Amino acid sequence: MYTNSKSSHTPLLEVRRLSKMFLSRGLFTSGRRVTAAEDISFRINRGEAIALVGESGSGKSTVARLIVRLEHPDGGEIRLDGTDMLTREPRRASLGYRGRVQMVFQDPFGSLNPVHTVAHHLVRPLLRHGRAKSTEVHARAIELLRVVGLEPAEEFINRHPYELSGGQRQRVAIARALAVEPDLLVADEPTSMLDVSIRMGILNLLAQLKLERGLAILLITHDLASARYLADRVLVLFRGRVVEAGPSDAIVERPAHPYTRALLASIADIGGQEPSARRPLEVAGEESADGCPFAYRCPEVFDVCRVTDPGPRPVDDRSVRCHLYPGGTRAPGS
Ligand SMILES: Nc1ncnc2c1ncn2[C@@H]1O[C@H](COP(=O)(O)OP(=O)(O)OP(=O)(O)O)[C@@H](O)[C@H]1O
Ligand code: SF4
Ligand SMILES: [Mg+2]
Repeated sequence: MYTNSKSSHTPLLEVRRLSKMFLSRGLFTSGRRVTAAEDISFRINRGEAIALVGESGSGKSTVARLIVRLEHPDGGEIRLDGTDMLTREPRRASLGYRGRVQMVFQDPFGSLNPVHTVAHHLVRPLLRHGRAKSTEVHARAIELLRVVGLEPAEEFINRHPYELSGGQRQRVAIARALAVEPDLLVADEPTSMLDVSIRMGILNLLAQLKLERGLAILLITHDLASARYLADRVLVLFRGRVVEAGPSDAIVERPAHPYTRALLASIADIGGQEPSARRPLEVAGEESADGCPFAYRCPEVFDVCRVTDPGPRPVDDRSVRCHLYPGGTRAPGS
């Protein structure tokens, strides 16, 4: 177990320069290096929600898996209450770490074992992490089902996963994560496999847990609207790099990076935009090795973008990785 005795200024979780490359092999091609995460840095405080947003393949799940330690990074630090866990527990995360950082996966159908009841899924972590005695474990499991809005809890507890809807299964998965009383919940696309009509209920539940229990949340999503709804701050990922980071309202209302603008334009359910403005950018070319990683798709690309990576730049309330900044327009003569 870890204590929470650090100063209130120490973030709950701080990730510093986290990097991960994969070697991807096709059937007829030799290995190609894929940057799934490059120099990712951010902090999450207690009761705060951060969203990682980006299109498919941008590295969102990789960052999530690195943080819950299902994957090992090539470099960087993962600090919990100021302690670098990769130094302290280099081989694998301890039960103590897993008790504080829990994950909810995208697929509510695959994440529960079909042969076991809801009770089994909740009792196991409660006992394993010492969160309940055997005499009180049933009552605690019932309480968890009530917390996630599954009523009547006495009926749900004896059901099997096949007797539940997708939304109900995702609530059980959240209850299972809550059973160990974590400080941080990493939710990887928790609503993307659910019907549109029940997505809002899950987001509302997460918002309630954040507000009422001070749960910190790392929301992984491709949807900037969900990110804005739940998260205080947003990090926009493109090919494993953070291209823009800042307050969620500001990023959605005034996106600065050309990629964030493209991502917003492609979202159908952001109101007030003409359909033509919602067209995603076309892929047109190869990524340059030295320049801006977005140059080959960027409608605003200019000469320097193809040869020099801009790196993150502080701009008012955020950080933007683009040569257009700090001014927001191309510098004269560039
Ligand atoms: N185990 C692996 N082996 C090889 N390549 C991998 C592996 N895991 C991820 N990748 C690659 O790393 C990149 C980032 O993948 P990741 O799953 O993190 O993206 P994502 O943003 O979560 O995408 P999605 O929205 O589709 O879930 C992709 O190019 C992916 O193919
Ligand atoms: S640096 Fe250049 S290519 Fe990259 S996003 Fe900015 S304008 Fe586009
Ligand atoms: Mg993913």
